Amino acid sequence: MRSWKASLVSAVLVSQGTSALNNGIGLKPHMGWSSWNVAQCNAASASYALDTANKFISLGLKDLGYEYINIDDCWSTKSRDSSGKLVPDPAKWPNGIKAVTDKIHDMGLKFGLYGCAGQKTCAGYPGSEGHEASDVAQLASWGVDFWKYDNCYTPCQQNPRPQTCNSPTGSTKTWYAPMRDAIIGAQNTRKINFNLCNWGRDQVWTWGADYGHSWRMSVDNWGDWASVERIGSAAAGIANYSAPGGFNDLDMLYLGSAKISATEEKLHFGLWAITKSPLVLGLDLNKISANTLSIIRNKGLIDINQDPLGKAATTFRPPGAAAPVNGKIYPYWAGPLSDGVVVGLCAGTSAGTYSVNFKDVPGLGAGSYTWKEMYTGQTGNGTSVSFNIDLHDMRVVKVTKA
Ligand code: GAL
Repeated sequence: MRSWKASLVSAVLVSQGTSALNNGIGLKPHMGWSSWNVAQCNAASASYALDTANKFISLGLKDLGYEYINIDDCWSTKSRDSSGKLVPDPAKWPNGIKAVTDKIHDMGLKFGLYGCAGQKTCAGYPGSEGHEASDVAQLASWGVDFWKYDNCYTPCQQNPRPQTCNSPTGSTKTWYAPMRDAIIGAQNTRKINFNLCNWGRDQVWTWGADYGHSWRMSVDNWGDWASVERIGSAAAGIANYSAPGGFNDLDMLYLGSAKISATEEKLHFGLWAITKSPLVLGLDLNKISANTLSIIRNKGLIDINQDPLGKAATTFRPPGAAAPVNGKIYPYWAGPLSDGVVVGLCAGTSAGTYSVNFKDVPGLGAGSYTWKEMYTGQTGNGTSVSFNIDLHDMRVVKVTKA
């Protein structure tokens, strides 16, 4: 079921004679892995895809819901073939793409690829502009389940077009429409989960639900605390746009990066989980630390992220609390769940004691509640919670009626 919002948008568009992308998938934020943060172009290969699929099984990630093995930029050759088809790089895909998707499907997992709405991808490989229907037919024939779609080398007043254009012709919305329509056109052959990677341009959250199943709401997560702060703080103001079938994508989880601490990884994962971002691991599963593994295997947090209601948490201001500061992660977050409310407490700017009276939490009210904190495992009953939280750490509390 899509949300009332998406259904309404669809109904309006259908009455205008346009079909909306509404193919019954993407009803929860997608979970998986992407090659880009691992080794950029070098990780866009069959061996990385299959190795990661095996790790999904051996590390218990598949059982927790991690499903998509997504190969990012640089998987093809630099030119199309004489009939205009994309060509998997034979050095990276010695047996082609289908041999890999078949194996991944046999393991009960799904496979994704990356493309671009412009003439070239951001790393300079063929883009799909003018080839949308033919490229989707190729993806469908390979059994591809997911398509991340970027916005480099797109229509521009500058000639030749730069990688990122400052004087665009049209907008990301107009550039993405032909691919959206091609995916709708191929829906009876293959349902493809469509991820819009337009870095939050043109306020994509206001129209993304009718174009794809998720949309990047910001430029890249660079793997440092500043990225977590920039993206996480911006998620608060656009929470209302996330719903089953269309989610704000806060970008890949850059866990295990040397640039963020073990503590910061907890806030990174916890905030992405409660704001209903896709949970896409951007790390090498051969090098994962015990700390990172325990974070990404936190079933309580995953269950909150995958809650069927699909409503993103946002900030709220308890009586006496300071006002939010732009670009900084506010301490108090809450969002509805199908069986309760999630409260997030973030020590984004200072360590300290963070307390909340449940009567002040949106969706709760006066009364006694049962709660469980997902990182410490602490449980309790009562009218409030209070935690001492280290700088850049987080507590995630699921609250249910006592
Ligand atoms: C960027 C995108 C990254 C990655 C990269 C590949 O535009 O935001 O997530 O896909 O391109 O070149």
